[in-house]
Amino acid sequence: MLPQDYLKAARVPKSLEPQTFGLWTIERRPERRKLCEPWSDYTLLHRVTLASLHMEPGEVVMEDSARELSRHLPIWLNAHGRILVTGLGLGCVVRGLLASPRVEHIDVLEIDRRIIDVVGAEFYEEPRVMLHHVDALRVRPSPDAHWNFAWHDIWSEGEEGLQLLHGRLMILFENHCDNQGAWGFPRWAKHLMPTKIVG
Ligand SMILES: C[S@@+](CC[C@H](N)C(=O)[O-])C[C@H]1O[C@@H](n2cnc3c(N)ncnc32)[C@H](O)[C@@H]1O
Repeated sequence: MLPQDYLKAARVPKSLEPQTFGLWTIERRPERRKLCEPWSDYTLLHRVTLASLHMEPGEVVMEDSARELSRHLPIWLNAHGRILVTGLGLGCVVRGLLASPRVEHIDVLEIDRRIIDVVGAEFYEEPRVMLHHVDALRVRPSPDAHWNFAWHDIWSEGEEGLQLLHGRLMILFENHCDNQGAWGFPRWAKHLMPTKIVG
């Protein structure tokens, strides 16, 4: 599969309708960045935070623009076998992974019950996906747990300390994963990690 095939597969389906649930809002916007974006609209996931109380409908946590989706290409282009995903969000990483026949199983760790109920519903009947309602940072994997790849994309308010959290996740799962990676993980930090980094 080509990179653009993964981007297309990862897009949020129209069946996931714009809505507000708890502190979260799913919104669909017409695409005005026509020069660099191939699609006529895109979907955003917002969350109300203390810092964003004055900004309706809150902080942007995820969007399915080509620019954002392409940051997940390292996992889509490399993944095979058993995959661990932290952070369901809009489900884009999971959709992209499902497009690959080389992916056998995906465990998704998501802290927010509402995200699982609203976004995760699409994957309830998907035999290759298992959704787990847990705080990924507090998981203690069983000794025999093994994944070929892990991809971390959790979220922190204002992205504060986000890469430290992703680094913590890599350390937590290092004995259980052959390869790991994270959204926007800095290149310079890759050689500092005690794990093989994708991308
Ligand atoms: C940036 S979004 C993930 C976007 C996702 N990669 C996608 O493809 O749409 C971050 C997600 O991580 C979840 N999250 C935040 N902290 C978490 C934690 N400690 N454990 C598990 N999930 C967490 C949030 O609830 C949110 O759904």
